[in-house]
Amino acid sequence: MTKSTKEIRKVSIVGTGAYLPEKVLTNHDLEKMVDTSDEWITKRTGIKERRIVDNGLATSDLATQAALRAIEDAGVSPKDVDLIITSTITPDTLFPSTSCYVQEKIGATGAGAFDVLAACAGFVYALSIGQCYVSSGAADTALIIGAECLSKITDYTDRTSCILFGDGAGAAVIQKSKGRHEILATYLGADGSQAGILTLPAGGSKMPTSYQTIDERMHFIKFRGKEVFKLAINTLTDLINDTIEKCGLTVDDVDLFIPHQSNFRIIEATMEKLGVPMEKAYFNIDRYGNTSSASVPIAIDEVSKSGRLKAGDIVLLAAFGGGLTWSSSVIRW
Ligand code: UT7
Repeated sequence: MTKSTKEIRKVSIVGTGAYLPEKVLTNHDLEKMVDTSDEWITKRTGIKERRIVDNGLATSDLATQAALRAIEDAGVSPKDVDLIITSTITPDTLFPSTSCYVQEKIGATGAGAFDVLAACAGFVYALSIGQCYVSSGAADTALIIGAECLSKITDYTDRTSCILFGDGAGAAVIQKSKGRHEILATYLGADGSQAGILTLPAGGSKMPTSYQTIDERMHFIKFRGKEVFKLAINTLTDLINDTIEKCGLTVDDVDLFIPHQSNFRIIEATMEKLGVPMEKAYFNIDRYGNTSSASVPIAIDEVSKSGRLKAGDIVLLAAFGGGLTWSSSVIRW
C-alpha cells in the first residue's frame, strides 16, 4: 500500500530484469507466411528475428519473469514492493490491470498496482510516475515494468506490419538513491491530433468487438508506416535535443543513447541528425524486433549486465509511439 508523502528524495534504478520467450520467429519463417524476404526486412528495418510467446501465455506471464529477475537483481523481496506500474498495450484483460495479475504472481501482497498506456513511450512514462512516488516518499520500492505480447495483436497476413513486432518484457526496481544509476530527469509529451496514424481500432468503447470488426481485421495493429517513420525521426531528434538542453548537457556528454527499438533506420537517421556516431546508440532490434513498451527496459537490462558502462556515465533513454507519445529520461550510471 502506498504511504502519505514525506520528503523529496533522489531516485535510482537498483535492479533490472528482462524476459524473452524462447520461440524465435525468423525472417525466413516469415517468408513462408507472407510475400516478403529476409533481404527486404533486414534492409528496411534491421530486424533478423523476433521472439513469440506460446499460445497459452499472456503479458503478465512475461512481466512476472522480468519482474522476479529485477527483484532478485535489486536484492529485495517481493514483499518489499509497495507499488507496481506496468506499461503495456497488450494487457491480459482490459480490466483488471496486468499489474494486478503480476502482483498476485510475484506475491507483492498489498502493493498498489495499475497500468499505464502510452504505447512504445510507455516504460519511461511509468518510470516517471514511479519516480514521483518514490521521490515524494509515497512509495519506497516501486516495480516498473514494460511488457508486451504484440504477436496477439499482429496481423500475420499483412506483410507491412507482421515483420516488425515481437514479444518480451523488461523491468526495473526503483528506490531512494544510494548514488548509482540515479534518474536525473524524465520528460513526457503527447500529440493526440495524430492518434489515427498508429492504433488498434477495435475492442474499445469506440468500436466494440463485433463480427464485423473481426471480419475487417480491426483487432490488429494498424499504422501508416511512412508517416510514423518520418514523425519518429523528427520527434526523437527534438526530444533528445530538448532533454539534454534542459539538463544543462551537450550531446557529447551523453555516453550512451538507448532509443526505443522500432526500426534500425529510425535510430540511424536520428543519430545522424544529432551528429552522434552509431557506436553511442544501443540497439538490439536485430534480435527482438519492435517490442513496444518492453524495448527500453530490455535494453537497459542488457546494458546493465554487459558491463559496458562505468560509474558516472550519462545514459539517455528516448522513446516514441502511438498516441502520439514520447518520453525521455537521463540516468547517471
Ligand atoms: O514504433 C512504432 C510502430 N512502428 C511503425 O509504425 C513503423 C514505422 N515505419 C517503418 O518502420 C517503415 O515505414 C516500414 C518498415 C513499415 C516500411 O518501410 P518503408 O521503407 O517505408 O517501405 P514502404 O512502405 O514505402 O514500402 C516500399 C515497398 C512497397 O512496394 P512498392 O509500392 O514500392 O511496389 C511495399 O508494398 O515495399 C513493399 N513492402 C514489402 N516488400 C517486401 C512493404 N512491406 C514489405 C515486406 N516485404 N514485408
